[in-house]
Amino acid sequence: MSVKLSDGRTIPIEMHKVRIVQKTSLVPSSRRLEAINEAGYNTFLLRTRDLFLDMLTDSGTNAMSDNQLAAMMVADDAYAGCESFYKLADAVKDVLKFDYTMPVHQGRAAEHLLAKVFVKPGDTVLMNYHFTTTKAHFELAGASVLEIYTPEMMKTESTQPFKGNLDLQRFKDCIKKFGPAKIPFVRMEATTNLVGGQPFSMQNLKEVKKLASDNGIMLVFDGSLLSENAYFIKKREKGYADKSIQEIIWELMEYVDLFYMSARKSTSVRGGMICTNKKEYYDRLLDWLPVYEGFSTYGGMSTKEIEAMHVGLREMTDVAVAGAGPEFIEYFVQRMLDAGLPAVTPAGGLAAHVDAKRFVTHLPQSQYQAGALAAAIYIASGVRCMERGTISNDRAADGSDVYADLELARLALPRRVYTMSHIEYVVDRLSWLYKNRKLIGGLRFVQEPKVLRFFFGRLEALDRWDIKLAAAFKSEFGPDC
Ligand code: F0G
Repeated sequence: MSVKLSDGRTIPIEMHKVRIVQKTSLVPSSRRLEAINEAGYNTFLLRTRDLFLDMLTDSGTNAMSDNQLAAMMVADDAYAGCESFYKLADAVKDVLKFDYTMPVHQGRAAEHLLAKVFVKPGDTVLMNYHFTTTKAHFELAGASVLEIYTPEMMKTESTQPFKGNLDLQRFKDCIKKFGPAKIPFVRMEATTNLVGGQPFSMQNLKEVKKLASDNGIMLVFDGSLLSENAYFIKKREKGYADKSIQEIIWELMEYVDLFYMSARKSTSVRGGMICTNKKEYYDRLLDWLPVYEGFSTYGGMSTKEIEAMHVGLREMTDVAVAGAGPEFIEYFVQRMLDAGLPAVTPAGGLAAHVDAKRFVTHLPQSQYQAGALAAAIYIASGVRCMERGTISNDRAADGSDVYADLELARLALPRRVYTMSHIEYVVDRLSWLYKNRKLIGGLRFVQEPKVLRFFFGRLEALDRWDIKLAAAFKSEFGPDC
């Protein structure tokens, strides 16, 4: 929700009361300098005790509702046939209109099962954009991943409301080139995570579905951020302003053959699921479910989380819940633009993104612009964000870096967790950093896993630029900030 103020401004406003809080603290810049060095300049390796605001991700970190917490108290822990699962299956029937529901322990577990069952060596999986774990699973199954986005997606300054759209002409070309038999499915990711949380339109999904079904290709929908994408359709697509989030979700789901989600985002729990109306797909996946996840009525999830999930699934159809992230993110992005910072526009669905290529223009991409910026943001603010650039890509077979299309520092806004004053603080520290950006130097890997290296990789700061940055900060703000 947003409200108009008497001075003409419109601001986002919380449609909830805060009733449980978690203490946080801001360690001084001298400690932050030590902590980022100990973490190998990788924000994943920082500890909570060294963080003021944790904007690493919205995954599993959204604030849950009172009704979700209450539901957790009545979970049925039966190994098989647990009642909590049937409540989830009912919520899926109501909210998503699928007959078959398969819980899995989180989103990447769904991707693992899809890869196992539907993807063969030599296949090409088409998608509007990849997510890190998605690509890893499909490539491990021997397939190639091809992203067929429109040119607008890669513009970090844009007014195009649906940068997540799939390019239909490229889709047609791929069908001709590879042949439908070599394309196990086309995957549409709601509010494409790695390129700024950008949604696709209903019109685009409808056209993708038409092309897919004309050619016998399955449409897979990654709905980890489903309610956010539905919210953007309501706000940005002609003809949807008066439709409810629920009505938009129902229409979206009409075009879907197989749906999966990380439940850690839109539904604010820790888990995931796969849903479909095609019994054949369900049966093929079910063969592998007990091998990798667990029995069909818990699928590796805690039954408490399944209880919270059926409540969360229904709650995300409330426009105040679906819009809680996007509206505060829009405010965040606008405040960055007001301060002259290179934010990605339009605002997306899970985070505010800073375009590192426009921030640290003096650094080459080979020195990991987004990774360096993420480390610098932590030193200047105690705020943890996530690198979404070249470090998030694994190396090519010949050992060279695969340069990312975009170098972004992602400041995720877990839903209902942070307030406007937190946002103002971050924007202030980013502005200070921008004025002092020449002090930010490059990074180099010193320890590097082969797969998904961004999680545990360790780097070093070239010429220890971090020491000079921390000294400049301290001389301006004093030793306690
Ligand atoms: N698909 C999308 C679009 C995601 O954003 C994620 C996770 C996954 C799949 C994998 O789900 O983590 O539950 O296994 N995104 C998190 C993030 C990790 O920080 O953006 P998972």
